[in-house]
Amino acid sequence: MTKHRIAFINGSLRKDSFHGRLGLAITAAATDRLAITALQIDDLPLYNQDVDGDAAPPSYRRFRKALQASDGVLFGSPEYNRSMSGAMKNAIDVGSRPYGQSSFARKPAAVFSGSPGMTGGFGSNHALRQSCVFVDMPVMPQPEAYWGLLNDDKLAADGSVNDEMLAKFVAGFAKAFADWIDLIVAGRASLALDPTQQG
Ligand code: FNR
Repeated sequence: MTKHRIAFINGSLRKDSFHGRLGLAITAAATDRLAITALQIDDLPLYNQDVDGDAAPPSYRRFRKALQASDGVLFGSPEYNRSMSGAMKNAIDVGSRPYGQSSFARKPAAVFSGSPGMTGGFGSNHALRQSCVFVDMPVMPQPEAYWGLLNDDKLAADGSVNDEMLAKFVAGFAKAFADWIDLIVAGRASLALDPTQQG
């Protein structure tokens, strides 16, 4: 069976990011069905409409091309002050432009968030879902993933999960995401929708 290609966008730029680790854990859990590749976003200059189109920086072109080549997107969204990180918002802005040429349109997606705190990044998760509605991405509704109380004991730097409940949840999330990608990709094909068409 052909594996769907998934672009992983981590809104955290830090080396030891829990979202990066969770991305690795989901990648391992879904490896039979999805080929998940992390996209670089730390070299995307802050979006400025004056510097786009023909004047777009090479990093914008690389990022957009990688999105266009993907069948879907996995977002790991750390919570910064009850919203998504600036890096994540900038990546959404860059990928959604130039106007009428969004690289996100109609790509199926899933969002997970986590935090060492109690609330598991709920605010960032939903702020991101709001942007996904506007850029016309069908986002997996369930299972929602707000992974709270994360620490190094539960989640190692290599993405291995040492907590039974979290491991089970990650496996369930990965399976549901692969099912969601299958569903949307097949539905889009049967309707002969142009995946690049802006809604
Ligand atoms: C945070 N953090 C945080 N946590 C939370 O649960 N709610 C919040 O609103 C915030 N706000 C916030 C703002 C800023 C600027 C920083 C740097 C951090 C803590 C955050 O959840 C924690 O650093 C996570 O570990 C970030 O995810 P990564 O980097 O581990 O993937």
